[in-house]
Amino acid sequence: MKKIIILLSVFSIGCKTQNVIVKPTGLVADKAMVVSAREEASKIGVEIMKKGGNAFDAMVGTELALAVAYPFAGNLGGGGFMVYRKANGEVGSLDYREKAPLAATKNMFLDEKGNVIKGKSTGTALAIGVPGTIAGVFEVHKKLGSLPIEEILKPVIALAERGVIVTKKQELRFNDYKVEILKKNGPNSLFSTVFKENDFIKYPALATTLKRISKNGRDEFYKGETAKILVKYLQEKGAIITLEDLAKYEAKWRTPLTFDYKDLKIISMSPPSSGGICLAEIFKMIEPYNLAKMGHNSSEAIQVIVEAERRAYADRSYFLGDPDFVKIPLKELMSNDYLKQRMSNFSFDKATLSSDIKQGKVNYNESMETTHYSIVDPFGNAVSATTTLNDGYGSKYYCDELGFFLNNEMDDFSAKPGEPNMFGLVGNEANSIAPQKRMLSSMTPTIVEKNGKLFMAVGSPGGSTIITSVLQTILNVYEYSLSMQQAVNAPRFHHQWLPDLITFEPNTFDTKTFETLKSKGYLINEKTTPVIGKVDAILALPNKTLEGGADFRGDDKAVGF
Ligand code: DON
Repeated sequence: MKKIIILLSVFSIGCKTQNVIVKPTGLVADKAMVVSAREEASKIGVEIMKKGGNAFDAMVGTELALAVAYPFAGNLGGGGFMVYRKANGEVGSLDYREKAPLAATKNMFLDEKGNVIKGKSTGTALAIGVPGTIAGVFEVHKKLGSLPIEEILKPVIALAERGVIVTKKQELRFNDYKVEILKKNGPNSLFSTVFKENDFIKYPALATTLKRISKNGRDEFYKGETAKILVKYLQEKGAIITLEDLAKYEAKWRTPLTFDYKDLKIISMSPPSSGGICLAEIFKMIEPYNLAKMGHNSSEAIQVIVEAERRAYADRSYFLGDPDFVKIPLKELMSNDYLKQRMSNFSFDKATLSSDIKQGKVNYNESMETTHYSIVDPFGNAVSATTTLNDGYGSKYYCDELGFFLNNEMDDFSAKPGEPNMFGLVGNEANSIAPQKRMLSSMTPTIVEKNGKLFMAVGSPGGSTIITSVLQTILNVYEYSLSMQQAVNAPRFHHQWLPDLITFEPNTFDTKTFETLKSKGYLINEKTTPVIGKVDAILALPNKTLEGGADFRGDDKAVGF
């Protein structure tokens, strides 16, 4: 694969790459496709569309099927964002992000000296935000769905009853998390079992919960028997979520954040996700440079992208938070003049150190415990949705009676200005904790148009690395003429302002590139680094077929017809 990418990069140099016809290497389908973290979920989405359902019906089915087949991140106990583009060109986005409970307080994760208490915002029941997923899928269904909800949920319930096979990668993940899961839930919990590859996990409790939701609708989760069981469980564990918190939860339609990059129109998530705004800032800052000529993953291209990333993430840290609580200078941050000025001190000769942009000292690590899926239906509607429990299996609290894990999304708030969260992201007053506020996110479900037509649906898990993974995937197709699948496979790198380090995927970049960058003052993360992002995307090809890009870094799978 590496060879193909290098050959294509060489070929790209000096070409007007955007017009090169690229042979697809991923799954190609004539009409419709779902690409998600598990084949079982992609298949359920596709079956719904085969029955005449649209992308929005498929979204509801896929999202909930991921809660069954991919409990690592798929969820009922978390939240997410969804961006859509209808066949007629109309776009929109839904925020079903978790919220801070009414009893949350600004300093709830600090000790009496004002220091962050390690692990409190990630590993205790106080880390749990009010879940948004069920409100999200019902809101999508109400506004845009076409099939009855019972029909959509039927195959999901059947999957939970039938059970889901454990993959090798899943077995490894269970191993990584088993001590903590056991500690939180005791020996009799479903997930305290040691699961091995090829075992089947059945989810009877989740099937029962889903049946009640199918029968009674969205309010079952927020006001019904499910709500009561959930609150009782949460309070036993020390959480502060009440029935009032659940009853008050609403998913919100938001205007997506749209901007142009050359002849592409990019439609992404607006705050409380930082995804769209950071993506816009980075794309606008790199637009004046001829990246195609510099070559794919060349040291020059890496410099330009890293410098833009550094500046965008610095802005993220200072300005961004829940728009229902803080005023975000969106227009100013996206203005050409501002972004031109922001890059004016960049030179190819020498790295701009992050300390020259803003002070700070942090540690971070990457992971991929969120999940993204992309859908295109036979009518031409597209959906791009990212959903999460935050960490792998969220807070690790698993409500056995209801059959799902609870998030630890409260860690996405800035517990204290300048203190890094689990992704090493530092925040400020704009992202401080307040009752009912939504924590800032990096999730970046995105849809791209070219010449007024659907071009790509794309997104990724990966915490702070989501934005840069989405960016590179779009650039790989548009600037470097890679197929959708090659673009997803291609090695990735990441910079997030603080810590001032470029992280590269392991064993994928040559040492010469590192040497060149180091000689210019770039700091490279030399630690063993995990993969960056896990992108699931769909490209609309010029002959009207669809190419899937399912990330080989996971068990991800494209299914289509
Ligand atoms: O919303 C966010 O930005 C994070 N809670 C996403 C977490 C994530 O991607 C986990 N996977 N690495």
